[in-house]
Amino acid sequence: MKEESKIVTSKFKHTPVLSSEVIEAISQLPATILKKGTLIDATIGGGGHASLILETYSNLHIIGLDQDPVAIKAATDRLSIYGSRVKIVSSNFADFFPEKKVSFIFADLGVSSPQIDEAQRGFSFRLDGPLDMRMNPKKDLTAAKLIKETDERTLADLIYKYGEERFSRRIARRIKNDLSVNHSYTGTASLAHAIASCYPAKFRNGRIHPATKTFQALRIVINNEIEALETLLEKAPNWLLPGGIMGIISFHSLEDRLVKHSFLKDERLERITRKPIVASANENSINTRSRSAKFRMAKKL
Ligand SMILES: C[S@@+](CC[C@H](N)C(=O)[O-])C[C@H]1O[C@@H](n2cnc3c(N)ncnc32)[C@H](O)[C@@H]1O
Repeated sequence: MKEESKIVTSKFKHTPVLSSEVIEAISQLPATILKKGTLIDATIGGGGHASLILETYSNLHIIGLDQDPVAIKAATDRLSIYGSRVKIVSSNFADFFPEKKVSFIFADLGVSSPQIDEAQRGFSFRLDGPLDMRMNPKKDLTAAKLIKETDERTLADLIYKYGEERFSRRIARRIKNDLSVNHSYTGTASLAHAIASCYPAKFRNGRIHPATKTFQALRIVINNEIEALETLLEKAPNWLLPGGIMGIISFHSLEDRLVKHSFLKDERLERITRKPIVASANENSINTRSRSAKFRMAKKL
């Protein structure tokens, strides 16, 4: 009889991307490590990847980090069945220091589906919510504060740099004009509408919503995402045992470029993946988030 899986479903609905590729990557660790090693999941989210890893490698232990208290609660609930094999730590990965060296470090960057799908978090341009976008609600900087306190030129530069948005100047001008007249936007839907109106009509109805790049840029700035990734790339190789592996899934070119460059140049590491691992056509058809996912790995020398 087929053994019943211990993986439980939770209200935190997030489908992990490239999960079989992550499981395969871990199998590259020496058998001695797989018998008693520890893995840091730097972005535990709802514990989707973590539960698959814990199920597949029954001797591995996981330290799971997240800066979002909702994710911490979801992962704690979901992974409690694994007892002492799991330790959940509420922390930005950039601020973390492990007590001991580990055999694998994994990060699945960016936002989770529940963060996007919960309108109150303010990440979505499709659902109306407050202009928030903080993964860690204890932080001070919200989207409302950012657009209010940043001058037009700087705002345009941020939207261009972190969103690679070619209409950044018009968008920043429109946002600042709206704010000078109305003092604030009512929420993410009205901001998205204003951004869309900056697009020439022929580009407005494309496959990608016109607010996608600007929302990405604001989210990256608010959560300090690029600096946090740079810090992780600098610190994490020191957390690995010799022969240990670091694997990072990124979702946009700014992140992927940083990971690629770091894995190539870092003298503590040897690159494993020359080209990033991407999702199969089948996974892309089931999970649209996987379409932009790029998974790179490196080994500690
Ligand atoms: C894509 S989700 C991870 C999903 C997870 N792999 C799963 O299968 O459930 C990314 C998570 O990383 C968290 N996160 C992003 N940047 C972070 C950082 N600098 N430090 C800690 N957590 C971070 C987010 O709050 C989010 O919960």
